Amino acid sequence: MRISLVAANWKMNGNRTFAERFFTDLELESVSADVVVCPPFPYLSLAARAAEEKGSFAVGGQNLSHELDGAFTGEVSAHMLLDCNVRYVIVGHSERRSFYHETSELVAKKFVAAQAVNLIPILCVGETLQERDQGHTLEVVASQLQAVKAVIEEDAWKRSVVAYEPVWAIGTGKTASPEEAQSVHKFIRTQLGDVGSKVQILYGGSVKSANASALFAQADIDGALVGGASLDAREFAGICRAAV
Ligand code: PGA
Repeated sequence: MRISLVAANWKMNGNRTFAERFFTDLELESVSADVVVCPPFPYLSLAARAAEEKGSFAVGGQNLSHELDGAFTGEVSAHMLLDCNVRYVIVGHSERRSFYHETSELVAKKFVAAQAVNLIPILCVGETLQERDQGHTLEVVASQLQAVKAVIEEDAWKRSVVAYEPVWAIGTGKTASPEEAQSVHKFIRTQLGDVGSKVQILYGGSVKSANASALFAQADIDGALVGGASLDAREFAGICRAAV
């Protein structure tokens, strides 16, 4: 049995007051899923303190450098995240791939850098609308996974999370239907090989408390990576409660 996982990706939103209020308002008492909150870097320590006080969620970064340390102005290393009591880190989010031109090879290096210090990478994969319309969804997802497979042992997937995020569903209010998402999740699981059944595979793209239950009811959907709806503590808690 896989434990469900719901992760909040605040992206570049919020401020100190927002972050403090969010953690005060976040009530996860009746939640059985694992919960991760990924705030922007400046609020990681604040989030980690709240996580320690509440004991009901973990903290994640939204990005990291693939380099260990050194002259890389503006970058944040895996060790620095660990130092801030961070446990997870998102790698390969579509916004990083498209706006910052991160290739699948770079994403794979970040995956390895995270695991080298025992951070759990949340690897995002997913196709654009054009790729879907052309019938290339599985091919795109397979090649994004392949870049990571090329640099890890199969067993390493067990210390990772994969998030399927169709790019056309991110921040658009459009979600893949539960059945559409399920078929890609099932495909991803087979791509992970023998350990696939042990890996949490999250769905991301306009998840809200209103559509979460139907998605989570699918056999291979183990939770969600939530953007917009994670900026409201009550709404986010509602999604967490839907994951059983
Ligand atoms: P969204 O974002 O929930 O706002 O669609 C999801 C994500 O980008 O991780």
